[in-house]
Amino acid sequence: MYGPVIEGKLVRLRSPKPEDAAVMITWFEDLEVTHFLFLSHPLTLEAEKEWVEKVGRDPDVVTWVIEVEGRPVGTTGIQMIDWKNGFGTTGTVIGDRSMWGKGLAGEVMQLRADYAFRKLPLRKLKSGYIEGNEASARAQASTGYVQVGRWRKDRFVDGEWRDLILTELMREEWANKRRV
Ligand SMILES: CC(C)(COP(=O)(O)OP(=O)(O)OC[C@H]1O[C@@H](n2cnc3c(N)ncnc32)[C@H](O)[C@@H]1OP(=O)(O)O)[C@@H](O)C(=O)NCCC(=O)NCCS
Repeated sequence: MYGPVIEGKLVRLRSPKPEDAAVMITWFEDLEVTHFLFLSHPLTLEAEKEWVEKVGRDPDVVTWVIEVEGRPVGTTGIQMIDWKNGFGTTGTVIGDRSMWGKGLAGEVMQLRADYAFRKLPLRKLKSGYIEGNEASARAQASTGYVQVGRWRKDRFVDGEWRDLILTELMREEWANKRRV
């Protein structure tokens, strides 16, 4: 499924479109962008278009393009939604590196959590980051995700095996944080 339009202060979340594929492939050509990602090779234009179609058909994902001033700069989503048990796994890529460090990910994660807990019957969002991905760690922490474990030496980055830090955000923790 695609996500509906959600307006934030910095970003606008909207459904992906086939024409986004051309800019998306350029994000994954950038080794800085893929540094801490599981996907570390750019796709062909055809494969990227197929991905856009596939996520639209999949009932267990919600995918958005992140737009700033009318321009696509990244994607975010909730994947592998388990409707019976009420959880999904979240991920974000700001593919346009010139947009890093401006607070976009922090706002995206907040808007996505608001959607997951207000519009969907989810009770938990799971996520994670590779050891050393400070921006992801901090954006997740400021949204309320807490560390719940780690898979040791799980991902190969810069010639060494790094831990994958596992995080989650419970509906109650989100609600408490929203009340403050
Ligand atoms: C990780 C990523 C989503 C962060 O996006 P962003 O819009 O630059 O993040 P923000 O500007 O909202 O910053 C989030 C926090 O990280 C901090 N931060 C940003 N860049 C940082 C850096 N290079 N080093 C350390 N901290 C950093 C910010 O100060 C902010 O901290 P705060 O919440 O305590 O104020 C973005 O860098 C990205 O897409 N990277 C490539 C893909 C990726 O790694 N995705 C995450 C996979 S788990």
